[in-house]
Amino acid sequence: MTFCSKVKLSSGGPKLSNLIQGYWRLAEWDMNAQQRLSFIESHVALGISTVDHAHIYGDPACEGLFGEALKLAPQLRDKIEIISKCGIKAADPGKVAHYNASKQAILASVNTSLQRLGTDYLDVLLIHRPDFLMDADEVAAAFQALKQAGKVHYFGVSNFNYAQISLLQSRLDAPLVTNQIELNPVNLQVIESGVLDYLQEQRIRPMAWSCLAGGRVYTDSSEGMQKLRDTLYQLVNELGANSIEQVIYAWVMKLPAKPLPVLGSGNIMRVKEAVAALSLSMSHEQWYRVLAAGRGRDVD
Ligand SMILES: NC(=O)c1ccc[n+]([C@@H]2O[C@H](COP(=O)([O-])OP(=O)(O)OC[C@H]3O[C@@H](n4cnc5c(N)ncnc54)[C@H](OP(=O)(O)O)[C@@H]3O)[C@@H](O)[C@H]2O)c1
Repeated sequence: MTFCSKVKLSSGGPKLSNLIQGYWRLAEWDMNAQQRLSFIESHVALGISTVDHAHIYGDPACEGLFGEALKLAPQLRDKIEIISKCGIKAADPGKVAHYNASKQAILASVNTSLQRLGTDYLDVLLIHRPDFLMDADEVAAAFQALKQAGKVHYFGVSNFNYAQISLLQSRLDAPLVTNQIELNPVNLQVIESGVLDYLQEQRIRPMAWSCLAGGRVYTDSSEGMQKLRDTLYQLVNELGANSIEQVIYAWVMKLPAKPLPVLGSGNIMRVKEAVAALSLSMSHEQWYRVLAAGRGRDVD
């Protein structure tokens, strides 16, 4: 049986499990606190020790639901690494949703996340989305204050392009440890934009979210998605895989920037499927076949 292992995210970065369990959808899973705890313990037993949260998840119930489960087994905190994110402000009545990466907003967000999760520290904090009003000096000051207070051990970003990473990095003492990005066969933007090349150059491992396009690789009945599924099923046979999701995880992990998939399922059997995908590998031709099916045309 395949298990996850711990890997270094970047030089000077933390060691995290090579698959990460995402908790964006936790509020939809309809689990009581004991069931949530069992789910956490089950993926930790598979070696998935790293969990992904955000201040905004569940509008914003998810961190609190996770914290409630953790309270039932406080010793679990030392066995897991918690990622959370800050910087998205939901719309208040009569106002619009917006991004806010000011120092004050970052500090307030982390304090709330710690309280909800029932922990003293986050292993990794990410700026959830690039705030067009981001003052990099302010973000650096917030990171320094959080590090000094022992509230956050490592810092990274999410959904940033090359220029945004480079700007923020220019103001920081310690290197950013990751960029969490959307990556799946129907969203090739990060493959084509150069951001993955930059991360590879810097030896910073990205995290890949929505590898299954939020489940659409199974549920979307469009012609394009049907063609992608046909190709993925062909590869299930060629690779000796069990499911198309395993083929997609193998496709994501073949990228030389070495992305760590962030899993979105609340079904432990599907989580096990993802872990088993760690032992699959595909050829260049097979990888390009998925790329071509995802974007609807072959390379020139
Ligand atoms: N940084 C960011 O901006 C950002 C944005 C979005 C997400 N994320 C992170 O990435 C994680 C994963 O994202 P995601 O949830 O979109 O991942 P995903 O793996 O693309 O989608 C998960 C969804 O697909 C469904 N699914 C899986 N297998 C299926 C099947 N065989 N048939 C039908 N449905 C199936 C799951 O349902 P079941 O639960 O029933 O299996 C779940 O609802 C999130 O939890 C979050 O931590 C980060």
